[in-house]
Amino acid sequence: MFFHYSHYSAGKLSLGKKNTLSLKIAEIQKKFKAAAGSCPENLPALFYLLSIIHLVYSTTMEQLNTDGTHIEPHQAFSKILSGLTGLENPIQPYFSQPDSVIYNNNCLEILSNLPAASIDMIFADPPYLLSNNGFTCKNGKMATVNKGKWDRSAGLENNLEFHNTWISACRRVLKPEGSLWISGTYHSIYQCGYLIQKNGFHILNDIAWFKPNAAPNLSCRFFTASHETLLWARRNYSAKHTFNYSDMKNGTFPEDKLKKSRTQMRSVWSIPTPGPAEKQYGKHPTQKPLALLNRIVKASTKPGDIILDPFSGTGTSGAAVKNAGSRFYIGIELERQYCEIGRKRLEAAGKPPSA
Ligand SMILES: C[S@@+](CC[C@H](N)C(=O)[O-])C[C@H]1O[C@@H](n2cnc3c(N)ncnc32)[C@H](O)[C@@H]1O
Repeated sequence: MFFHYSHYSAGKLSLGKKNTLSLKIAEIQKKFKAAAGSCPENLPALFYLLSIIHLVYSTTMEQLNTDGTHIEPHQAFSKILSGLTGLENPIQPYFSQPDSVIYNNNCLEILSNLPAASIDMIFADPPYLLSNNGFTCKNGKMATVNKGKWDRSAGLENNLEFHNTWISACRRVLKPEGSLWISGTYHSIYQCGYLIQKNGFHILNDIAWFKPNAAPNLSCRFFTASHETLLWARRNYSAKHTFNYSDMKNGTFPEDKLKKSRTQMRSVWSIPTPGPAEKQYGKHPTQKPLALLNRIVKASTKPGDIILDPFSGTGTSGAAVKNAGSRFYIGIELERQYCEIGRKRLEAAGKPPSA
């Protein structure tokens, strides 16, 4: 029932200088192996050296253009965008700025047309697939849990297939040392947790996002849900992902009553749900707090990185990328009304608040 798109095929690189470099590395590796054979007690040191060479090699390769020249982050970003507008059926952005773009499309269509290994970090807040006519409490009143067509469950097996499709599409576009965040509740997070492991990701953390102002439950027949889970996983077990440890330890997080100053950031984050100021451009039933996304972007990206959100909703991730600065953002959202809120938030982000 889900869409299948042909994978990006224009990404075949002409290897020129890259090939020469990789041959040289292979030669060095061969010599090390021969040396290790004659002198086994030096093995640990030799393997250490080999891993350094591998790291230098992969970092260098990432920064090279197809013709072997260095590629700047903004060039890499515009190359990705022009790849989409240059398709036989061009995909135009809904909104773009020099460092950010929003597509009003199905994320599977965009992901399948992006070059492999082109994205540094993906934050995904997929539909929880829980909108099947249940009830919740809103402002003290009974309200339907239905969030929109996009959130309807298609049954356990179809939901699993949906999550698997977008997760594997994300894996293809992530760089080897890239990482993936997924946000969800028990309706979806266990399926996603299983699938990221099945797709070869390595889980780094499961963050409990505690909502101190969560809505009460009206049935009084079970505990009041007051947290969501965020999975953070690196694409490859052996790759060096970005983690800005001291920014997390020493930064200030005034909204979080659990974070003690100058102590390690732990895996339970206390952050209130978004207040009216964050909803001034329009409402979304599952909008994430900006403080949550600010923290995620600050923790796991560096200047120059390209960050993608396949289910961008109101563009909270985009506003956080703008706040962090010197980074690039690609948001993808199915519903036009949410793209429009995202556009307004991106335009406002970074500007001083109006008097
Ligand atoms: C959980 S919400 C994300 C909310 C967002 N994090 C925010 O802070 O506003 C999921 C969003 O994914 C969108 N969506 C659902 N299926 C999609 C698809 N296949 N491609 C792109 N967007 C999709 C929905 O319209 C919805 O806005």
